[in-house]
Amino acid sequence: MTLERTLASALKDALQALYQITIEPDEKLIQPTRKEFEGDRTIVVFPYVKLARKAPDMVGKEIGEHIHQQLDFITGFNVVKGYLNISIDDAFWCDHLAAHHDDSRYGITEERQEAPVLIEYSSPNTNKPLHLGHVRNNLLGLAVSRIVSACGHKVVQVNLVNDRGIHICKSMVAWLRYGNGETPENSGIKGDHLVGNYYVAFDKHYKEEQQQLIAQGLTPEEAEQQAPIMLEAREMLRQWEAEDPTVRALWQQMNGWVYEGFDQTYNRLGIHFDKVYHESETYLLGKSLVEEGLQKGVFYKHEDGSVRVNLEAEGLDEKVLLRKDGTSVYITQDIGTAQLRYEEFHPQKMIYVVGNEQNYHFDVLKLVLGKKLGLPFGDSIYHLSYGMVELPNGKMKSREGTVVDADDLMDAMYEEAKRSTEELGKFQFSPEEADKLYEMVGLGALKYFILKVDPAKNMLFNPEESIDFNGNTGPFIQYTHARIRSLLRKADEQQLGWREALPAGMKLNDEERILIKMLYQYPDTVLAAGENLSPALIANYIYDLAKQFNHFYQETPVMKETDEAKRHLRLQIANMTALAIRNGMQLLGIDVPERM
Ligand code: ARG
Repeated sequence: MTLERTLASALKDALQALYQITIEPDEKLIQPTRKEFEGDRTIVVFPYVKLARKAPDMVGKEIGEHIHQQLDFITGFNVVKGYLNISIDDAFWCDHLAAHHDDSRYGITEERQEAPVLIEYSSPNTNKPLHLGHVRNNLLGLAVSRIVSACGHKVVQVNLVNDRGIHICKSMVAWLRYGNGETPENSGIKGDHLVGNYYVAFDKHYKEEQQQLIAQGLTPEEAEQQAPIMLEAREMLRQWEAEDPTVRALWQQMNGWVYEGFDQTYNRLGIHFDKVYHESETYLLGKSLVEEGLQKGVFYKHEDGSVRVNLEAEGLDEKVLLRKDGTSVYITQDIGTAQLRYEEFHPQKMIYVVGNEQNYHFDVLKLVLGKKLGLPFGDSIYHLSYGMVELPNGKMKSREGTVVDADDLMDAMYEEAKRSTEELGKFQFSPEEADKLYEMVGLGALKYFILKVDPAKNMLFNPEESIDFNGNTGPFIQYTHARIRSLLRKADEQQLGWREALPAGMKLNDEERILIKMLYQYPDTVLAAGENLSPALIANYIYDLAKQFNHFYQETPVMKETDEAKRHLRLQIANMTALAIRNGMQLLGIDVPERM
């Protein structure tokens, strides 16, 4: 039973005994005591004051006395303006340490037998490589998946690839025109980058053709419509929809190159999906669901022939669900995709990790599926919306000056890590070990820096700051972990037997007590991160923990402590800290080194 639950149940008894009030006290109103006050846990007594018909301080005092008598791990209490601060005996913290100091699954809740939580993330288009925005998306998706799973839920990680449409046809047309049979194999270019190059080439030639047409006297609008390369792309889309075998074969081939490229990027990020959906496989189902809605009268046919939904009563506006030529739009496939996922997994919740520029899209989707189509999973849809991420000006912008490529960014982080880790220069590593370490530190810096920010906020990713060994960074935490592990290796080499049970009744010094109390908060932090879908809660917790450990280590001798029990206690605290750091970082998708 957690401390909060034990206190809540004692509080319940006290209220009954003192005032004959029968209620189930809210555990959330029992919180860690603020630093300015003496105590470990604080009970807010205001909710009971009216019922007790006494002054808040009186109620606090009476409840305090009652609970003090009931629970032997309480050493004392004080009341400040209706807040009851309770002090907890060292024995309680020592028991917790004894139970978990070597518990490799600390903070992980056993998986419950229940419907899964489906989490969609990444969801790229197959016309260009992943960029910085996708990096934030992928990191959030991976971290949230691991956190929700650590909270005891079954998680299904899915990706939705936008693999069809005019943007794909643009790359295809440009490749046919200018490619000269270039492939990833014969050029050595990563597949997604190669296809991305043709997407850029399309745009360049399209602009040139428009200029020529304008020079021949066409208006800019006419030029936009009539440029031959654009007509070719449209024609190709028509052929694709008509399942023309040649077009489909080229489409398969070029998408195949892109997938190989994506897979490399995902591997490097540590990402794996349980299932990949393709819009080309879901948009037809979406269309038929829209047709059904039209039959039922929840959608209507606009005079221009398009099918629309009117969401004015819901505070939104009109939204096109099928174009006037009957072709599908972006939301059409999402309607089909959601239905497919429901049939396949019956998830209790479907989380979509997608940038905040699509907030409106998901508001509409939820209403269309739930309120309009009356589908059972409409309410289970949740858009995990996140803000923009940018680099400071002048850093790593691509030739067009707009997008930062994900692969290039990871390469750059590797180089940064190499430079700063070499400066540290503590260990002699083999080339393979060094390579692994630089990758771990470089990606750790990138991942941590992005994940420590609340998802909803826009942010700047600053590569140098992210790798600072003295800041709130991944490498600082990785380094702290490596230091603890090296301390423990030393203790093991000396066969100190520090894992064995400690004598009862040990008194803690302030540094020890603070750390154990922080470690006690780790499982609750994971649960809170799961509830709020916020990896930032875990990231910042680990930083505070690592910082506190360094303080402890500076102030308190460990190997030099001559009292054996105290030395072992401190080694156990160190081990549990390393475990919490490792488990927490693992939830963020970040590895921690054994030495560095
Ligand atoms: N492919 C889309 C884009 O790049 C994102 C898809 C998001 N997911 C979804 N189910 N709509 O903008």
